[in-house]
Amino acid sequence: MPTIPPADPLWRLVIEGVSLRQEAGIESRLAIGNGLLGVRGARAASRGATWRAWLQPGAWISWPRVYCAGLFDTPNTTPAVPALAPLPDWLPLVIRLDGAPLLLQSGETLLHRRTLDLQRGWLTAEWRQRMPPTDGQAGAEASLRTLRLVSQADRALGLQSAELELDRDGVEVEVEARVDLAAAGLEVVALDSDAVLLRTLATGRQVALAAAVKCDTGTPLDAPPLSWRWRWQSVAGTPARLTRLVAVVRDATSAEEARTALHRGEKRGRALPLDHATAWAERWAGADVALEGETGWQAAVRFALYHLIAVANPEDGRVSVGARGLSGDGYLGHVFWDTETYLLPFYTFAWPEAARALLMYRYHTLDGARAKAAHEGWKGACFAWESADTGKETTPEEVIGPAGTPVAVLTGKQEQHITADVSHAVWQYWLATGDEDFLLQAGAEILLETARFWTSRALPEADGRRHIRGVIGPDEYHETIDDNAFTNTMARWNIRRGLEVLDLLAARWPDRAAALREKLAIGEDEPAAWHTAAEGLVDGFDPETGMIEQFTGFYGLEKIDLTALPPGPADVVLGRARTQASQVVKQADVVALLGVLPEEYPAAVALKNFLYYEPLCAHGSSLSRAMHALVAARLGETETAAHYLTSTAALELEDAAGEAAGVHIAALGGLWQAVVLGFGGVGVDAEGLSLAPRVPAELPRLEFPLHWHGRRVRVTLRPDAWKVKLEQGNEMTLRVNGTAYTLQPGGVAEG
Ligand code: BGC
Repeated sequence: MPTIPPADPLWRLVIEGVSLRQEAGIESRLAIGNGLLGVRGARAASRGATWRAWLQPGAWISWPRVYCAGLFDTPNTTPAVPALAPLPDWLPLVIRLDGAPLLLQSGETLLHRRTLDLQRGWLTAEWRQRMPPTDGQAGAEASLRTLRLVSQADRALGLQSAELELDRDGVEVEVEARVDLAAAGLEVVALDSDAVLLRTLATGRQVALAAAVKCDTGTPLDAPPLSWRWRWQSVAGTPARLTRLVAVVRDATSAEEARTALHRGEKRGRALPLDHATAWAERWAGADVALEGETGWQAAVRFALYHLIAVANPEDGRVSVGARGLSGDGYLGHVFWDTETYLLPFYTFAWPEAARALLMYRYHTLDGARAKAAHEGWKGACFAWESADTGKETTPEEVIGPAGTPVAVLTGKQEQHITADVSHAVWQYWLATGDEDFLLQAGAEILLETARFWTSRALPEADGRRHIRGVIGPDEYHETIDDNAFTNTMARWNIRRGLEVLDLLAARWPDRAAALREKLAIGEDEPAAWHTAAEGLVDGFDPETGMIEQFTGFYGLEKIDLTALPPGPADVVLGRARTQASQVVKQADVVALLGVLPEEYPAAVALKNFLYYEPLCAHGSSLSRAMHALVAARLGETETAAHYLTSTAALELEDAAGEAAGVHIAALGGLWQAVVLGFGGVGVDAEGLSLAPRVPAELPRLEFPLHWHGRRVRVTLRPDAWKVKLEQGNEMTLRVNGTAYTLQPGGVAEG
């Protein structure tokens, strides 16, 4: 059933040809996913011998990978940290024509095109290859069209279909559809002809996979387990059709569980791709952002939303999104602050069910966070800087640096702001959804345990103030610093929200408040201690100058003109020691503070600080530019915002862009934020939803949906006009530029 790709170029990503140098990055961009399964966009058919060759030491030409969210194992590496374990690759197709393998390098490629259909969440490929005549064989032209998807409607299921056509009669065609068990980082527990039960070696987690493959042409041949083979004589112009359905069940006890899921898929039959496309259509209805104009941002934002939708799973509160989503092995699949600070705003406003599941992951890993705090001698819960499935700290303590020598990694011990970042996402979700069940079952506990952590972490000193020493802020070029403004201000905010939630619970759900206080053993005097800690915390802000010092002593460091440096990462160009002793900032840090807590600073203060810190930033992390775009857009610094939006978009979509390690999912979430929270000026607080649009002239129209308290509104903005329609749900009030408007169901407000 390979289908016609969308006519609108803004709903598709087309890759022509195979460029070995770029292939691994292309595979990341062309990844498909449904929050449970992720499949890189590696070619399925006749991959050939170059498949496993080295292009350069340490880099594969192609990196075919299938992932299952949350399936971590601890491989035999130093240091031993958990990594996302690859599943068997269920897509390979091996084709032989008159006994000769059909390979890219063994004939003339007339067409090789892959199209990622962003709208329907599937990947199609067209390949036309002329095989030359050989010893008595006449040669032939083969056309192959394939499609793959992992179902958004039933996440256990994956589907591949292929059509193979020859241009002449009588070619002996042999096709083998394999499930490549060798590609998996898993041990086989039980193997049948149609299913396998696998296990991670170190952690003993099981996963089952079942497959069924059908071909409408040819004679089936004997094949090893989980392989299917057919042979036939070609008839010119008559395609042979192959369909493969797979089912994957994580944490299965037997292969039978995968078979049961497979039968579900088989029952849906031809409706399966339609179910999937319908589910994607629903996602888009709740999430799409339309941008008119010549900026090129529409393609980038669609691509971003596609990947954001592809990595989340509202049905699973035990997994979160790793730094490269399910599109590559980067950062071993570990979860960072990227999720809460860069992704959650999108999910909260566009797909609240997914946001809830991601926050439940933090709730389910609270014990790991409690253990981390206790281990370091603190109270409450301190979330892991890098987290896998249990919430235990998984940051490697050492990596091999660019010079080939080991470099100590201190982030696992020192980058603690993540704990407040999680709380911030919890509170934003609560404000935007009013999800009482979540607050009472999970959110409040996170806020209280983290408030308690910060109180124990912010110690009183001789100056009568509280200090947080020995941390790393978002700017990782500076280690073991004191009183990072981002960390301290977020910590204070976190403690204040802990106190607020205690009051809220006591006022509205006194029984729950009492039960929670008892469960967490929050004594009578403890809230007062939290208050003292929060209000005593230094925050780097000088009311006289209106400046926020990134950390104590920052202003005394060498100031370096980044525009005068030769190209390359600043810390490599300058060397580590000089970078650390300078005001060169790896990524948005004070700027991130302005982005995450805009309500803390008047616009003039925010602008002054933005103008100071922006030129100091080397953007040594892919997260950085999008955050600059968000802050600049909010401040009405339109040209700067546009510059950062364009450069964020280029991270994935420029020709040479794309990394084998996977897409930069946080930057993609940041794109959404820059547009919707930045130009749209969307915000949420205890009084409700608000807009303060600042739409630049280059965007004649900007339109997006927002979810708020079970309702959905559609916002349409122009440089000099705005309109909000209440599409779903009951009457509500929202503020636009400070004025309140009441919307009736289906009603519109505009100005
Ligand atoms: C950045 C972090 C980020 C991590 C994973 C690092 O390079 O500095 O802020 O969390 O990558 O994306």
